[in-house]
Parts: sequence; structure tokens; C-alpha cells
Amino acid sequence: MNSHPPILTIDGPSGSGKGTLAKLIAERLGWNLLDSGALYRVVGLIAKRQGVSEHAPAQLAEIARRMPLSFDAEGRALLDGEDVSLEIRSETAGNLASKVAALPEVRRALLDWQRDYVRPPGLVADGRDMGSVVFPDAEIKVFLTASAEERANRRYKQLIEKGLDVNLADLTADIRERDERDRTRKVAPLVAPAAALELDSTSMSIEQVVEQVLERVAETFPDLL
Ligand code: C5P
Repeated sequence: MNSHPPILTIDGPSGSGKGTLAKLIAERLGWNLLDSGALYRVVGLIAKRQGVSEHAPAQLAEIARRMPLSFDAEGRALLDGEDVSLEIRSETAGNLASKVAALPEVRRALLDWQRDYVRPPGLVADGRDMGSVVFPDAEIKVFLTASAEERANRRYKQLIEKGLDVNLADLTADIRERDERDRTRKVAPLVAPAAALELDSTSMSIEQVVEQVLERVAETFPDLL
């Protein structure tokens, strides 16, 4: 018998569609959702605001342990009541997040935060090391990828729609650089966990990806859907 509520992890690089997939699956199952990237992004944001260097692990870990962060019912990130959801989505915040995320002290400080999300009826957890490090006992593990070009294209379209002035070549270079940092870092590098359902979304629609994940859910929990 499992002693914890069911957990479904979704890991993969930036822009693979993990966030959208996690949200859709959590809605469909009625489970809680953990966007672990948001935690790293908020640590980066606080560090920037307080002028703490990305090379000060002890101070950054302290920020991670004490940050007055909560999420409202719509998933908005509230920092001491201030809605920072838009600010943490910027490219700069993403890059900063990836830098603080390379520090073991910060990752350790965020473990309790993340494990606290395991509540009935179940959890969908989105990140880089959800299935490999944070929730190794998860019943279902998904690893979602897409080519760097496709991921940069998707991001480009999103940003252009928002009216932002961006350059596709810069975005592609940023994505490659962040991938490289996430994959080669010493702690919790981005890897497909053992027994993960590996999906390459380069030429799949989000509906097709959702369908495949739900098939795995139905096999694992026949009474759920
Ligand atoms: O997923 P998202 O793009 O919001 O994550 C921002 C950064 O935070 C990633 O580039 C990655 O370096 C880091 N991250 C991580 N482990 C997680 C989630 C995010 O290292 N579980």
C-alpha cells in the first residue's frame, strides 16, 4: 500500500510544454499542482531586489527558507501579498533562476517547500528533478522534451503575442545556454528518471501529449478516470 497520495511528475527542459501539460493534467484529475520553477524564479527575484549576489549560497538558501511566498487559487505567485507572477516569467528572471538553481544549498532549502505540496487527492509536480530527486517514489513520471529550435519558436510566438520586442536568434541562444547549465550542473541535473514516459513534443500537439499521459494514468490507476 502506498503511504502517500498519488504523485505524477513532469520533468523536461524550458519551453517543452511542461507547464501547460501539468496544468491540464492537474485540472483533469482534480489534483494539486506544483510549479517548482516558480520557486527558483522567486528566489532569484528576491535576490535581485535585495542585491544578493548569485554567488552567495548561504544567503540565497536563507532567502529560499524564509521567503513569504504563497500561491492563490488561480496559481498566481504572491510575495508577501504582492502578485509577482508576471515579473518572474521574464527571460531575465528565468536566467537568474537557473543560476541560483545550480547551488546545492538553494536546492536543499527548497526540498521541504516542494514536499509540502503532497496532499490528497494527488499532486502533479512540474520541474527538472521532480521524478529523479524530489519525488523518487512518484507513481507516474513523465519526461517531456522538444528540439531547442521548436522551444525557441514557441517562446518567440508567446512573447510577440504579448507585444514584446524579441529576437529569435537570441531566444534560441538563451535556451541552449540554460539547457546546458541545467543538464551539466553537479546537483540534480536535468535527466530523464528511470521508467519515465518519455515524450518528444516537437511535432505533437498539446492535446496529443495530454492524451498519452492520460493513457498512462489510466493504466496505473484504472479506477481514476
Ligand atoms: O521551469 P522554469 O523555466 O520556470 O524554471 C526556471 C529555472 O529553474 C530552470 O531553468 C532551472 O534551472 C530551474 N529549475 C530547477 N529545478 C526545478 C525547476 C526549475 O533547477 N525543479
